[in-house]
Amino acid sequence: MDLGYRRFAPSEAEPLADFLAGEVWPFHSAPVVDKRAVARWVADGYYDGGSARTFWIVADGTRAGVVRMFDLDDGTPLFDLRIGAAWRGRGIGTHAVGWLTRYLFTEFPAVNRIEGTTRRDNRGMRRVFRRCGYAKEAHYRQAWPGGDGTLHDTVGYAILRSDWLSGTVTPPDFYDEHG
Ligand SMILES: CC(C)(COP(=O)(O)OP(=O)(O)OC[C@H]1O[C@@H](n2cnc3c(N)ncnc32)[C@H](O)[C@@H]1OP(=O)(O)O)[C@@H](O)C(=O)NCCC(=O)NCCS
Repeated sequence: MDLGYRRFAPSEAEPLADFLAGEVWPFHSAPVVDKRAVARWVADGYYDGGSARTFWIVADGTRAGVVRMFDLDDGTPLFDLRIGAAWRGRGIGTHAVGWLTRYLFTEFPAVNRIEGTTRRDNRGMRRVFRRCGYAKEAHYRQAWPGGDGTLHDTVGYAILRSDWLSGTVTPPDFYDEHG
């Protein structure tokens, strides 16, 4: 499969709205995206502005996914990764997180760590984090209300620039409350 990343341009609001509204996103707080809201967000610089950049993930010439990187100005960016259902489970998510990690550390010298959170039962995303060298740093109990009222746990992962450079994964000193 031929995979590439192309920066989203504000003139592409319509294809972005089509892509986001054309899928259901069960692991997002809004599983259904409203097309008109996307147009507003694009106009507001939510996808490409001072502190955010968005890229299309292009697989074999088709828009297979989208990744929005944000909080680019505060030293610890986050990202939102969405692969179209027809393209999932084929290695694209893993490739995309590897790509965006390199992109952020290369393009933004002040970035020291990159963070991501997901719902506890999003096994695919959790596997992608681990495969890409991200360490689990946080576990928030009952922090993610599902559409049916179920309270899911939220898990947080991050990668440090130093770990990325050395190819290691340093676990956090989590159990540091001795006595
Ligand atoms: C989560 C997501 C980004 C993963 O991308 P992907 O291209 O499907 O993942 P990959 O093909 O790279 O798979 C990576 C690993 O996860 C595993 N995996 C993927 N989907 C899985 C699932 N639903 N359940 C269990 N494991 C899964 C794969 O088997 C693979 O494991 P391996 O490394 O042992 O072979 C993608 O499925 C997606 O966009 N989902 C909807 C949106 C979403 O949940 N985004 C994340 C919000 S934080």
